[in-house]
Amino acid sequence: MLISIIHHSQKSSILQAKKTIMIHTQKYISENKELFLNGLLSLLRIPSVSADSSYNEDVAKCAELLSKDLIKIGLDRVEICQTHGHPIVYGEKIIDPKLPTVLVYGHYDVQPADPIDLWTSPPFEPVIKKTDLHPMGAIFARGACDDKGQMYMHVKAVEAMLAKKELPCNVKFMIEGEEEVGSENLAVFVMNEKKRLAADIILVSDTGMLANDVPSITTGLRGLSYVEVEVTGPNRDLHSGLYGGCVANPINVLCKMIESLQDSDKKITIPGFYDDVAMLSTGERAEMAKAPFSHDAYCGALDIEDTYGEVDYSTPERGSIRPSLDVNGIWGGYTGEGAKTVIASKAYAKISMRLVPNQDPHKITELFSSHFNSIAPKGVTVKVTPHHGGEPAVTPVDSIGYLAASDAYEKSFGVKPIPVRSGGSIPIVAMFEKELGLKTVLMGFGLDSDAIHSPNEHYGLFNFYKGIETIPYFFEAFAKRMK
Ligand code: BES
Ligand code: MN
Ligand code: MN
Repeated sequence: MLISIIHHSQKSSILQAKKTIMIHTQKYISENKELFLNGLLSLLRIPSVSADSSYNEDVAKCAELLSKDLIKIGLDRVEICQTHGHPIVYGEKIIDPKLPTVLVYGHYDVQPADPIDLWTSPPFEPVIKKTDLHPMGAIFARGACDDKGQMYMHVKAVEAMLAKKELPCNVKFMIEGEEEVGSENLAVFVMNEKKRLAADIILVSDTGMLANDVPSITTGLRGLSYVEVEVTGPNRDLHSGLYGGCVANPINVLCKMIESLQDSDKKITIPGFYDDVAMLSTGERAEMAKAPFSHDAYCGALDIEDTYGEVDYSTPERGSIRPSLDVNGIWGGYTGEGAKTVIASKAYAKISMRLVPNQDPHKITELFSSHFNSIAPKGVTVKVTPHHGGEPAVTPVDSIGYLAASDAYEKSFGVKPIPVRSGGSIPIVAMFEKELGLKTVLMGFGLDSDAIHSPNEHYGLFNFYKGIETIPYFFEAFAKRMK
């Protein structure tokens, strides 16, 4: 029995090595690089900013252009699905109902471009520039990496497989226009369209990898609880000479309250905050520590002297398996030119908490809210308003999907990818599992240095093309492993 198993696997690995898989597809890709790039540049020229309603028409235009591309590559049932917010672009190719189905998810909406002054070229006029990490050049534009460039790799990879009749699985595309604002309407769509979305795996490129020569697959995302706080002191702005020292200044108080949310060990002080945090075993942490990380390179890239965070955890751990709390914006009082002597009536802040398994965003929001109210000194009142949140997600490294992705990277990069948990959030991933019962494979090709959400966002040409090359190998390996 043992002998026959060995014999069988040897035979199949020889077969695998000999078979020239996806050769026509890969040839098509290498012959169409320029067209692929131009297609992406056209999408990048449309400012599909989902958060700002003055861009609503552009968001719709972007959905329109994307849907045309899906039709052009030969997908069926292409539809711009209207929602209460921005539309979802859908398309599919069912080549044989008996074959496994891959559901590709991505987003065509982008973050606002501001602060616009800090861009070295206009955010919606993509240009290609070389950088230290991208000697082949990188596309500079809002959405280049997050997520138009990465989402579009799938469109082009499927185009190539369809053109060369090498598509080995059924494929469905669901590209939304509200990821950057919380995917609320996508959640409704997913619940209403379970049949249309039936699949075996969800494939997403909306994360990163360690380096261009150190491919990695994202195996975890943090959850999110996001709140806005308002601290009110006196009923009107006051002369800071007449009243200074006599009343609680909402801005001073807000700063103090925020400061108290972390202790000297940088632990979050909200009672119960850590109660549900899943702890990793020593073995799991040791495994994590094997991923390459350079403290000096990390600090150097950010022009900081040192890192800062929770005691007893490494920087990669602080940014992935541990929760965090950060002020994302704070305002109040006079910020104009010169000096106005005033004690403002109100102060505000927007605060995000990144969560890890098994923290529940609703519970954390409540814990935050009651704690923040409880620490308010006499003389001010506090209002906490929750914004959108999302659950954390972890994906297994022994699933068919992960293994197929690993096969694919090994083929295109020549080395096995490393599993890495990320600090970012894609709330819909946990939803997919809950509502559709589907696992997600996160094949991200961006770099942390690609400045997503920041001025001068960019995406390496190497990464764009490598992604297009890797995706067909995933389809191929997934079809094979699902047999
Ligand atoms: N693509 C990012 C998330 C991401 C980036 C995950 C890099 C891992 C690595 C996504 O578009 C995003 O920005 N998500 C938001 C959350 C959302 C609810 C606004 C985030 O993480 O802030
Ligand atoms: Mn994204
Ligand atoms: Mn984003």
